[in-house]
Amino acid sequence: MKFTYYGHSCFAIETGGKKILFDPFINGNELARDIDADSIDADFILVSHGHGDHVGDLALIAKRTGAKVIAGYEVIDWAKKQGVTNAHPLNFGSAMFEFGKLHFLPAWHSSTMPDGSAGGAPGGFLLHGDEKKFYYSGDTCLMMDMQLIPRYAKLDFAILPIGGNFTMDADDAVIAAEFIQCDKIIGVHFDTFGYIKVNHEDVIAKFKAAGKELILPKIGETIDL
Ligand code: NI
Ligand code: MN
Repeated sequence: MKFTYYGHSCFAIETGGKKILFDPFINGNELARDIDADSIDADFILVSHGHGDHVGDLALIAKRTGAKVIAGYEVIDWAKKQGVTNAHPLNFGSAMFEFGKLHFLPAWHSSTMPDGSAGGAPGGFLLHGDEKKFYYSGDTCLMMDMQLIPRYAKLDFAILPIGGNFTMDADDAVIAAEFIQCDKIIGVHFDTFGYIKVNHEDVIAKFKAAGKELILPKIGETIDL
């Protein structure tokens, strides 16, 4: 399963010949200036919540590619107002898609769309793919609900925010990794803004001390998982 990092919390997973893009935000990210949002393909776009650093390039990429946008009901309402037509609204629970079963699960955060409209409740995704199972928490603090994840799936890897300030920091992400019983974590939501800069060696060491691997992919890098 291929994982490509586009900076901040924007990444793509390729599975079963389908490309699933998460939380598209490239043009507003100075660190992702070498990424061309107009060249990113997608069959599906999954959006965790309505903040600009997760939906900045949603309409742009969704309209060009025709990808199906999957997100909470209010995020989909907003996307439709931006001209997105291929969309699937969710609320917390699960649904079946071509790429497998998808749980949309709560996150402790906020969610306001860029135009100030309500973004509904923020969430995260648990994808039960044919190849691999993984969890992307979205923007959230550490929360007890994460302990439900092992009841649903034995994860192959997880994508967690580590930057602190707006989300979990690395210390809490280590506990989250314990809650979800996963040893391979990809860190996101760090370095983009001044508030969330991290020392890479320090955060990797925190995970190592807990017997876990933290991967901090380079922007534009594709890794095999
Ligand atoms: Ni957010
Ligand atoms: Mn965010």
